[in-house]
Amino acid sequence: MAKTKTSFFCQNCGAQYAKWMGQCKSCYEWNTIVEEVIQKEEKRNWKQTTSIKKANKALAINEISLDKEDRISTKNNELNRVLGGGLVKGSMLLLGGEPGIGKSTLLLQIALTMPKKVLYVSGEESQSQIKMRAERIQKNNTSCLILTETNTQNIFRAIEEVTPEVIVIDSIQTLYTDYIDASPGSISQIRETTAELIKFAKETATPVLLIGHITKDGNIAGPKILEHMVDVVLQFEGDRNHTYRILRANKNRFGSTSELGIYEMQSIGLREVDNPSEILISQKEDDLSGTAIAATLEGVRPLMIEVQALVSTAVYGTPQRSATGYDLKRLNMLLAVLEKRAGFRLGAKDVFLNIAGGIKVDDPAIDLAVISAILSSNEDEAIPQDFCFAAEIGLAGEIRPVNRVEQRILEAEKLGFHKIFISKFNKISKPNYTIKIVKVTKVEDIFANLFT
Ligand code: TYD
Ligand code: MG
Repeated sequence: MAKTKTSFFCQNCGAQYAKWMGQCKSCYEWNTIVEEVIQKEEKRNWKQTTSIKKANKALAINEISLDKEDRISTKNNELNRVLGGGLVKGSMLLLGGEPGIGKSTLLLQIALTMPKKVLYVSGEESQSQIKMRAERIQKNNTSCLILTETNTQNIFRAIEEVTPEVIVIDSIQTLYTDYIDASPGSISQIRETTAELIKFAKETATPVLLIGHITKDGNIAGPKILEHMVDVVLQFEGDRNHTYRILRANKNRFGSTSELGIYEMQSIGLREVDNPSEILISQKEDDLSGTAIAATLEGVRPLMIEVQALVSTAVYGTPQRSATGYDLKRLNMLLAVLEKRAGFRLGAKDVFLNIAGGIKVDDPAIDLAVISAILSSNEDEAIPQDFCFAAEIGLAGEIRPVNRVEQRILEAEKLGFHKIFISKFNKISKPNYTIKIVKVTKVEDIFANLFT
């Protein structure tokens, strides 16, 4: 019997070492190097029986033909948009997200609605558990086959048998290949099984959708190379206590990464949310102080988001600042701007900020709504519900223009808002909007406009 061969891998970055050491030389993390058993063999091909591989020929760019049918529509508009129009043939997609967020539900739902032959491979649940889930989401599709298997060689055997057009793998951390002795989920197994799947995907032009677990700090478990190897990395996120889920592309070789898909987790699976603005604004009857609505953009899609602030006198020495769905550092910066440039004494107050719906935004155009909400709570004076805001705040207290302001104005108009506050420096080419556009230059202006 061959001698067992072991090697040391950094669990953070995937670097390989001949011996153990305390700190990884490549990513400088401590205590991440773990010994793993590897046993390499010469012949490693996803298809052992026949060799279909032939050497590729170099072609000039105009000689390469582009198939019209290069993208496979998933019948799920939100996912299609995030991907940039559907699944690209032969591409490898990695879907990451916290446990219980709905990764398996999303991909099973897609597998069951796609008008293609899909092989759904699960290493986490049994066939009957998947059936139970499918019953819950009330989808019944005979062209979707369910396989419970964790060995890649067996998976490839099943693939040869059923010849699926799309493959879903739940999850990459449960797979193992015979060619390596390390346990499933270890760095070397993840790397090898992904490599085998990529080779298969590219050679047969079959899209492969992988589910990946994430670590406690939010990264996809396994080496960073996993993210380099695949074509698309999607992140499924959301607050577990809220029903809304957001699908974001962190990397996309075939489209933009600024698009966003919104879903709502219901008792019958995930519902696509086509008009997100309506759900992100909380329903209320009376005007309440401390709320302001921002006209933001995610990708090319406008989103009206409600910002809620609570300002109260600090009980303890150091005032508290807390932000949910918004960058705390940016909140502190905005408070400093208010303090310094506009003379609002917020230093002795607690400030809490919350973005409604449990979503996280990073569009800087939300800044103006944030300070308006803070001022409104501080003054205890409500901002009328039909006002909205779209501008960035600079360190000097200046109100800065944002991109594609007309798209935001149009969305606000469409949803029945009567007034939108934007920067004076934003150019508007079409003058005849029914919504009233208020142009402001400084933080003081906004105070004067709203509360005096
Ligand atoms: P799941 O897809 O198993 O999450 P992951 O694969 O990311 O770990 O999602 C599980 C959660 O989703 C669970 O808490 C129950 C909830 N859920 C619903 O609310 N409605 C449904 O129809 C389904 C199938 C799940
Ligand atoms: Mg799962």
